[in-house]
Amino acid sequence: MRLLDGKALAATITERLADEIEAFKAAHAVVPGLAVVLVGDDPASHAYVKMKESACKRAGVYSVVHKFPEDTPHDRIRQTVEMINDNPNLHGLLVQLPLPGHMDTLDLIDRIAPSKDVDGFHPFNFGKLFAGLETFAPCTPLGVMRLLEEYDIDPKGKDAVVVGASNIVGKPMAALLLNAGATVDICHIFTRDLAEHTQKADIVLVGVGKPGLITADMIREGAVVIDIGINRLEDGRLVGDVDYEAVAPKCSAITPVPGGVGPMTIAMLLQNTLAAARNFVTKPDA
Ligand code: GUN
Repeated sequence: MRLLDGKALAATITERLADEIEAFKAAHAVVPGLAVVLVGDDPASHAYVKMKESACKRAGVYSVVHKFPEDTPHDRIRQTVEMINDNPNLHGLLVQLPLPGHMDTLDLIDRIAPSKDVDGFHPFNFGKLFAGLETFAPCTPLGVMRLLEEYDIDPKGKDAVVVGASNIVGKPMAALLLNAGATVDICHIFTRDLAEHTQKADIVLVGVGKPGLITADMIREGAVVIDIGINRLEDGRLVGDVDYEAVAPKCSAITPVPGGVGPMTIAMLLQNTLAAARNFVTKPDA
């Protein structure tokens, strides 16, 4: 069984990006800039945003976080998004999700300039992704593809099952796998018999936020298992959605949690931010 070490790979990618960013700054006298909008007190969101900020610092990306209290009116956030859209020093913009319940998430995502949408959540970029065109792909699924590539796991011709159909993870994950030539099932909360799907898969990818959802009997001998879930147990431990101890011995390769997909997400955010800054200098009207 191979352990897919996202932490080590993300560190290597970040080092390489830091060099590229330095060269980009020297060539264009432009510092890649990322704006993050964070609303409310969700501790996980605050932790993720801190990790994003420190990764930017390590790689030489300028970052600014706009923090707002939970009860901020929707229009205030909309104005902030529009202000960042118009700021030429900020090339990437993301709104940390989930937003408080009174906000219209899709409306806010729709307001992000597609050229700054480093999360790849805007419907324009989402559509391009599904059409197989070059665009910003969401960072978590993009990180999974990079991890598979690094370990020479080619999805072409494989049966892949994506468990979870969110706009952030499941749907773009399925699109990237499909674009790479896999046959893809997408399972979700209404799927009648989840095990029936996962048992036949060469690659199982799961991101729903349910510890222990994927058990050993649901996985074929020799399968590749990618755990995109992240859950904090009552005893403080971080675990994924896969019963790791039981499943790992059956796999040909598996990602740990933590240290698997999570660090790759942040590395891909840096990569997308550099790409946004590059587009800004080469295609300023895009
Ligand atoms: N919340 C959980 N994952 C993500 C992500 O990749 N981007 C944003 N904006 N919010 C998230």
